[in-house]
Amino acid sequence: MTMQPDGANRPGRVEEYFMYSDFKDISAYYDALYVKDEEYAPEASRVKELLAAHGVPARGDLLVLACGTGGHVPYFKDDFKVSGLDLSEDMLALARRKFPDVAFHLGNLVDFALDAEFDAIVCLYGSIGFVRTVDRLRAAMRRIAAHLRPGGVALVTPWSTVEEFREMLVVDAVDRPELKIARMEQVRLKEPKVVEVTFHHLLGEGTDVAYHRQAMEIGLFSREEYVSAMDHAGIEVVEEYAGTDVRGGAYVGKRVEG
Ligand SMILES: C[S@@+](CC[C@H](N)C(=O)[O-])C[C@H]1O[C@@H](n2cnc3c(N)ncnc32)[C@H](O)[C@@H]1O
Repeated sequence: MTMQPDGANRPGRVEEYFMYSDFKDISAYYDALYVKDEEYAPEASRVKELLAAHGVPARGDLLVLACGTGGHVPYFKDDFKVSGLDLSEDMLALARRKFPDVAFHLGNLVDFALDAEFDAIVCLYGSIGFVRTVDRLRAAMRRIAAHLRPGGVALVTPWSTVEEFREMLVVDAVDRPELKIARMEQVRLKEPKVVEVTFHHLLGEGTDVAYHRQAMEIGLFSREEYVSAMDHAGIEVVEEYAGTDVRGGAYVGKRVEG
């Protein structure tokens, strides 16, 4: 695929990225399975602290990239003017239903072009990994820089790093009267810098059980690749946060003034 210059936000291109990250089927039960208050609340609270520590003003403009169903929005919306952006119409439809007052945009991390500037832009829960290649990581960082006010702050959580990655099998379940889900996820190295996550979901409704299997590819970048992608985009890394309350840790950078 030929990369277009930044800002080439053409609808046809969005389609191409679904082969890496199609949340269409998963969206219906994404919140039940993944959006847990005990993880999202402390994570959002630490993110707010980090943004404030690096000069993001109270009630500033915050863009949440790859916002999904808006899992972090309840924890941000009283502190910032929040907007969200995601590649999946299905995830966005759920976010819009939950937060009708928040602006959600359909767009791709690597070429989004909004007519707005922000005091802070965050990309959480390792979603940046869906860009898959270093070229696209760099493109995404350039788009982030282009949407930040001078001195604005970017906070990006890596989807693991080359240095820290471990293969694993994740096991979890939802057991509610109206919804029962058992999930296993195989997290394996497919190529030296590409992780394949294969979702196996058993979905129970009444006494029926449906099986959903899906694989997604995620880019595994090194610490150096994250830092240099930000640096090249004009975002100076000012902190590398390693606390476990922010899943994956965080690179915090400031858009260079001028
Ligand atoms: C694992 S979900 C995380 C959602 C949200 N950040 C959260 O923590 O709940 C990953 C999200 O990234 C979105 N995504 C994947 N690739 C993307 C891209 N290239 N541009 C924008 N969003 C993307 C998916 O549609 C999905 O909603």
